[in-house]
Amino acid sequence: MSRVAYVNGRYLPHRAAAVHVEDRGFQFADGAYEVIAVHGGSFLDEGLHLTRLHRSLGELRIEPPMADAALKAVMREVVRRNRVRDGILYMQVTRGAAPRDFAFPKSRPSLVMTARNARPLDPKLLERGALVVTLPDIRWARPDIKSVALLPNALGKQRAKEAGAYEAWQVDRDGNVTEGTSSNAWIVTAKGEIVTRQADHAILNGVTRLGVIEVAGKAQMKVIERPFSVAEAKAAREAFITSTTNFIVPVTRIDDATVGDGKPGEITRRLRALYVEYAARQP
Ligand code: PDD
Repeated sequence: MSRVAYVNGRYLPHRAAAVHVEDRGFQFADGAYEVIAVHGGSFLDEGLHLTRLHRSLGELRIEPPMADAALKAVMREVVRRNRVRDGILYMQVTRGAAPRDFAFPKSRPSLVMTARNARPLDPKLLERGALVVTLPDIRWARPDIKSVALLPNALGKQRAKEAGAYEAWQVDRDGNVTEGTSSNAWIVTAKGEIVTRQADHAILNGVTRLGVIEVAGKAQMKVIERPFSVAEAKAAREAFITSTTNFIVPVTRIDDATVGDGKPGEITRRLRALYVEYAARQP
């Protein structure tokens, strides 16, 4: 199937779709993005993603490229033209194209969208759990903004891949885990408390993270938002990651340490089932 991309007002064949060489997304990583799950043909937590996009754009002082109603219409058209039922929509907004100058030019924002079907996760990953490796968090001081400046994340993911791991957990100067390169990090303590870092400037406040906090709360499961160290994670009963593309994936090994009994934990499995139900319930 030939794919279609939306670029600044036009629907183009994917292979021919391009932005200008002086787009500030390309030159300065001067932009923000969202990855939204398409589940059974509809968007999962569309409202939360658009709220976060507006927050990112506001922090970067980039004007929204169009009103939300128009944005939503383009999102649906991109999904329709790519015949996506279960997959993702990628949306990127940059400050636009202008002669290279560090200060903001008078440019119109660029808007790009693509969409594709995604293969379901490998069932073995859910049965066995994932390996994560830890590495220093070398990102800038505002990972709460979903900016397209993802070089440290890409370097970290590559390190993970080379180590045969599924994800890398980034660690701050105090020895606390901030988050994965493209996911949020969680542990379950010996007391059965579900712990994830508070949504401060050090992490992206994941939409999946928010959904998991909601379903856990409804099931009377206790979530505590606080930092946790690598040592605490290695000694935890369970661990897992969350993201739009993974939902919830159990973590059974961190570096050379086995988490719990080395199998996906009970609370992690229960949360995944609750989250899958939550996703299925959305209109
Ligand atoms: N990444 N933390 C980081 C650094 C991320 O890049 C992501 C998502 C998350 C999880 O956020 P959410 O639950 O809203 O997907 C946390 C997306 C999937 C990506 O860049 O492909």
